[in-house]
Amino acid sequence: MKTANHAVFNHKDLLGIEELSAEDILMVLDNAVGSKDVVTRTIKKVPILRGKTVVNLFFENSTRTRTSFEIAARRLSADVINFDVATSSVNKGEALLDTVETIEALGADYIVMRHSSSGSPHFLARNVKASVINAGDGQHEHPTQALLDAFTIRERLGRIEGLEIALVGDILHSRVARSNILLLNKLGANITLVGPPSLVPEEFSQLGVRIVHDLKAGIRGADVIYLLRIQLERQRKNLFPSLEEYRAVYGLNKERLGYAREGALVMHPGPVNQGVEITREVMEMPQSTILNQVTNGVAVRMAVFYLLQGARDHVHHDHS
Ligand code: CP
Repeated sequence: MKTANHAVFNHKDLLGIEELSAEDILMVLDNAVGSKDVVTRTIKKVPILRGKTVVNLFFENSTRTRTSFEIAARRLSADVINFDVATSSVNKGEALLDTVETIEALGADYIVMRHSSSGSPHFLARNVKASVINAGDGQHEHPTQALLDAFTIRERLGRIEGLEIALVGDILHSRVARSNILLLNKLGANITLVGPPSLVPEEFSQLGVRIVHDLKAGIRGADVIYLLRIQLERQRKNLFPSLEEYRAVYGLNKERLGYAREGALVMHPGPVNQGVEITREVMEMPQSTILNQVTNGVAVRMAVFYLLQGARDHVHHDHS
């Protein structure tokens, strides 16, 4: 699981793609290749986090991310606690910092947090010694999702630089889109955002992307079509007439897929609104990576723990 070059991953926390350099990102992706070897062999455990405690602290629902972090930490021999927010003193009004300081006092080395407030992991990271990993903060960032997406693209297509990548759908509410835009820009891909003006406002062009409101024009010649989930739970007003209307104009079906490059990857972070963003038929095509993305999430999160632990050991060594 060593990195090929001698660059150092010099971060206490993983808060967002914004804080990472292209070299940092490549270190995670290169390291995840080794992690994937570990998870596919007969004995799937290595002792890198033996004696360390990882606490999953999810204030919003999750299937993939929480489970994936748990499996990744266990593969590295960590003790894992899934903190149950629903039955905790958070419901008696305990402040977020008090909750996390209590978890740290109980011996947590890593806190993996999902929260509805943008910036909450950054606030915690400044106030605790444990390493904080952002598992999604509001509409801001979801860095490990973007890292596992990049790993999947590189695994399938061999590179990221110079690829034509169309992100389609609810960009406005999507932390996944934001982290992907930041990452793909840093690694030199050409990004097109596709969707109705209400979900893909013109201001996004400041992020160094092309904006196209017509699906066929937006995905023409694309190497990768990345579909974002319509986030009904985050919409404060009706930004399009109905899911049926969205499906009719922006849903990806086999006929529309023909506008992209032949064999173009079809990606989605999940959970999918099936029949809205994508048809079942397209989900089951060989170029669909939806389940590969989930599998690769474990290897990428192992790589993140490995690199953060290296940085923690480095700091500890310097101070001893
Ligand atoms: N992609 C993603 O974050 O999925 P979950 O909400 O299931 O974790």
